[in-house]
Parts: sequence; structure tokens; C-alpha cells
Amino acid sequence: MPTLVVLGTQWGDEGKGKVVDYLAKKADYIVRYQGGNNAGHTLIYENKPFVLHLIPSGILFPKKNCLIGNGVVIDPKALKEEVTFLNKKKIAVKGRFFISEQAHVILPYHKLIDEILERGNVKIGTTKRGIGPCYSDKVKRIGVRVVDYLEKDVFLNLLDKNLTEKALILKDSGVDIEDLKKEILKDHNELSKFIKPFVTDTSLMIENAIKKNKKLLFESAQGTLLDLDFGTYPYVTSSNPIAGGVCPGVGLGPTEVDNVLGVVKAYTTRVGEGPFTVELFDEMGDFLREKGGEYGATTGRPRRCGWFDAVVVRHSVRVSGIKHLILTKLDCMEGIDIIKVCVAYRYKSKVYKDFPASRTVQKYAKPVYEEMAGFKCKVKGVTDFKKLPLNAQKYVKRLEQLVGAPIDLISLGRKREETIEVTKNTKWF
Ligand code: IMP
Repeated sequence: MPTLVVLGTQWGDEGKGKVVDYLAKKADYIVRYQGGNNAGHTLIYENKPFVLHLIPSGILFPKKNCLIGNGVVIDPKALKEEVTFLNKKKIAVKGRFFISEQAHVILPYHKLIDEILERGNVKIGTTKRGIGPCYSDKVKRIGVRVVDYLEKDVFLNLLDKNLTEKALILKDSGVDIEDLKKEILKDHNELSKFIKPFVTDTSLMIENAIKKNKKLLFESAQGTLLDLDFGTYPYVTSSNPIAGGVCPGVGLGPTEVDNVLGVVKAYTTRVGEGPFTVELFDEMGDFLREKGGEYGATTGRPRRCGWFDAVVVRHSVRVSGIKHLILTKLDCMEGIDIIKVCVAYRYKSKVYKDFPASRTVQKYAKPVYEEMAGFKCKVKGVTDFKKLPLNAQKYVKRLEQLVGAPIDLISLGRKREETIEVTKNTKWF
């Protein structure tokens, strides 16, 4: 089993950073397949937390190869900042970090348009990193790929086309197109030279690695409920974080995907706008936010918090064919008297066990809760499942039953060693 996809089963921020970090030491290649620098993976390195937005977190291990696939959108400025940051920390990236020549490039006008659209009447609550407008250009077939960015005459031609196409919306918001063009060209000189050594055909690289029986870890960003097709549309990101996204996102056939692992938080959070059936507006919501440090890694926004939503996670398990789950942040539920778990939704007189596509149902449905006794004693520091308080064990087992996949690993803190292997020696790869 040399290929493994790791993805978030809720609205992102499930703690994938730590999980990928945990699994990366067993992998040879760590590959991102969608999203951009809207993601934020908080990692602990030399006892200090830091956030990577674009480069796969496996980069912290010396000798691992880290790739950014064609399905990712790359802001060259953000990429340069991250590489420079890692170099300052003495984490060398040259020769083991590569980006796809077919990935699309985020340019300053994408960020401006993202901001302008967010001021309009369909507010998504985006990260304002230009992600949606860049993917829109890809679909409109006027996007700039990395390979185009490196060929100056091709780039200049595309830049003019794009600025003409976007002139109305930009001018309307007071943007001076000529100044914007000058800024882009100035950056282009420096940034194209900077990114060139990292650019390659990553799809070929992946094929060669698979032929050599290397272990590949495909890292998703965001989460299933932010998936363009299977999320809470239109309050979603503009790519496919589900496992299937890996095929068009890196250039790999579905027969080459061996295993799919979902990361799930012991409760639920989301940032940005959109329906959130289990959202808590009371002290319990505040409790989870504070205990879990639920503030966005990319934007610093407070996350909306709620109980575990089994309807959502069951949906994620199904649409990605998840075979294993890793449960995170169970320690943040210590000290709660009664824990609620959402097992279905109710709208008017109908009960929904499967995640509904209707915007109306998503918006107005009420959660159907099941109650369980909470756990008071400390779970942090426990490394054996059987040593967890009985009620914590019951909670984990109930979640497994409800969502239809086994929880093989439990994370009880940010540090690598704060982890329980429920199923010993699981063969991830
Ligand atoms: P965009 O991806 O910046 O276009 O934002 C679209 C939606 O996805 C917004 O609700 C964002 O808050 C959300 N989003 C994007 N990236 C992340 C992430 O890494 N974690 C959680 N939410 C995210």
C-alpha cells in the first residue's frame, strides 16, 4: 500500500497538520493536491508552534520530498516567504521541494477581486487570498499556469488579456490598472527567477516514485464540507478536498490510490459563512473555542464551534471511501458533564440521516441529539486506549458506530508523542 490520502472530514481545521507530520516520517513523498495558501497547518518544531500555508508540512523532516501538485493554486509571493522562512530556520528545501508546472498562479488581481466580491451581496467569508478568483480563471481558460509565468512573452500576453477582462470590476473599485500592471511586472522579474528551480513535471515524478515502490502521502487542505461539489455550496472553497480530488490534482489514476485516511475533530468547528447545524451560541460553544484554541491559523478569526455532527462525518466517510479515521482534540472535551452527538437532522417533520443537498434544509434543519455522560478525569498524557476514562472510551466507540469507520489513532495534544494508537501497528502505507 504505497499511496495514502489524508483529508479533513469536517470544515477544515481538524488537525491535519499534526497527523501529516506524524505520518510523514513513514513516507518518502508528501504531496499537496488542491487549495492554496488559504490553508494553515500549525506544527510544533523545536517546541515552538508555527504555521505552513502552502508547503507540505513533511518538509520538517530532512530527506523527505515535498511536492505541490497541479491542482494547487500558488501565490509566488507567499511561496517565496515560506521558503525564506524555512531557510532561516535552517530547513533546506532545495532538491527536495518541487512545484508542478501546471499549477495555476495567484496574481494580485485575484486577491483584489476576492476582496471586492466579499464586499458584495454573496459573502462567503473567504480567506481573501485570491483562491476562488484564481480557480475561476482556470475554469474560464484564461488562467496563468506556472509554466506560463516562466515564459515571459506568454505571461505578458496573458497578463494583458486578464487585465482587460477584469478592468471593469477593478476600475469600479478604484484600482489603477496601469499601476497594478507595473507592480505585477516588477514582482514577476524577481519571483519567476525565484520559483524556477522548484518547477518540474510533478506528475512524472510521482509516477517514477510509485514504480520504485516509494511511499506517497497525499495531503488535502480544508475539509469535505468545504468541497466544491460535496460541501455546503456555495459556502465552500473552490477545489475538491475529497479523496477523489487527488487524481486530477496530481495526475494519478484512481487505481493507484491504495488507502484513504480521514481526520476528524472530537467536536465540530467552521470559519466563514454558511450553514452549521450543530453550532452552539452558548457557554458550551465558548468553552470549546477557548479549550481548543479555536482561532483561524490563516486569518485569526474565531471559529464557530458545535457538538460532533455524525451526519457530516458519515457523509465524508462515504464520499471519500475513508477506511481509517484519526480523532483529534479529544482532550479538549475534558470536564464536560453531558456530551451531545448529532445523529440526524430534522426539518419540518422529516428526519435526515444523510447529509441533505438542499440549501433550505442545510440552513433551517435542527440537530437530533443523543446524549452521553462526559468525562472529568484528565485524558492528556494517556497513551493507551484502555487507560482513557471509560466514558471517553464509550464516546470514541459510539462515534465509530455512527460514522461507519474505525478510529485507529487518537490525538490528545499538539506534540507528536501525545497520541494513542488504538489499533496497534496499523499499516497506513
Ligand atoms: P477560500 O478558500 O479562501 O475561497 O474560502 C472559502 C471558505 O473556505 C471560507 O469559508 C473559508 O473560511 C474556508 N476555508 C478556506 N481554507 C480553510 C482552511 O484551511 N480551514 C478552514 N476553513 C477554510
